[in-house]
Amino acid sequence: MKKAYASAPGKVILVGEHFVVEGCPAIAVAVDVRARVTAERIEGEHVRVYSRELGEAVFGPGVGGGPLYPVYVAAREVIQRSGERIGLKITVESDIPPSAGMGSSAAVAVATVAATAKLLGLALTPDEVAQLALAAEVVVHGKPSGIDPTVSSHGSAILFRKGDKPKRINADFEQVRLVLADSGIQRSTGKLVSKVLETKKKFPGILEPLYRSATELAERTKEALENGDFATVGELMNINHGLLSALGVSNAKLEELVYAAREAGALGSKITGAGGGGMVVALCWREDADRVARALSKVAARVMTASVSEEGVTCGLES
Ligand code: PMV
Repeated sequence: MKKAYASAPGKVILVGEHFVVEGCPAIAVAVDVRARVTAERIEGEHVRVYSRELGEAVFGPGVGGGPLYPVYVAAREVIQRSGERIGLKITVESDIPPSAGMGSSAAVAVATVAATAKLLGLALTPDEVAQLALAAEVVVHGKPSGIDPTVSSHGSAILFRKGDKPKRINADFEQVRLVLADSGIQRSTGKLVSKVLETKKKFPGILEPLYRSATELAERTKEALENGDFATVGELMNINHGLLSALGVSNAKLEELVYAAREAGALGSKITGAGGGGMVVALCWREDADRVARALSKVAARVMTASVSEEGVTCGLES
């Protein structure tokens, strides 16, 4: 029996999370930590999902819910697009820490869409893969901007703005590393996004200028990346962290991690993703990454060092 496989990278948002939900630009990079999915046909019209971490579940019309449901939704989008009536077995494996701001659910959805499309003989562009995966992201956290599936599908570094075609940023990341430190605090992206939107509604005159700052900040970061000026990128990441604190998504643990990274010599450090817990990212020169990682490991639940991955989603067939 034919089997299709796909893999997709996790992501780190360098600048612009939360602001991106309201239409500001943001910059995200794909990183070298991936989710892998296989898809094969089975009898009937149900979708069976297996995960190393989350067990197994069976889905079909009227059968939904649970942590594996978004995987089914991603596969269902592709089955509907193909017009076929089939049963599927989907197997998921991910090295991306879940609920930590590294886009694990989006990477799984993107790999699921790509593997299912490959199995059914549908040729999709990276933008189409991201678009279909977005349906699963809506199940996970309600009002996603779409940045996570877009960067996971394209790879590399992307300037993303809702409704616009994503722009690839030409930058050479060879001399830098991203050190990621996990606060160990689980949080819900959906709840944090709603909280920020409520605060914006309550104090529009105060928060709207921050959204204008975030727009210029993303544009200046793109320029600095293209010029290889990572010192300026770090400085802009620090300012971005201040804007996120003003939105109310930081806490004592995240501040501790952010300052531990800066004191150990990071070029810049900030919350990455929704905040409230999850991870902070520190941008470091390659030769400083170990020192920053060691300093963070004294105060973080887990520390990872990642490189930017040029490779977005990939897929193939095995027999
Ligand atoms: O789910 P996370 O932590 O990777 O956060 C995604 C980034 C947000 O801007 C907070 C939400 C979104 O959909 O863009």
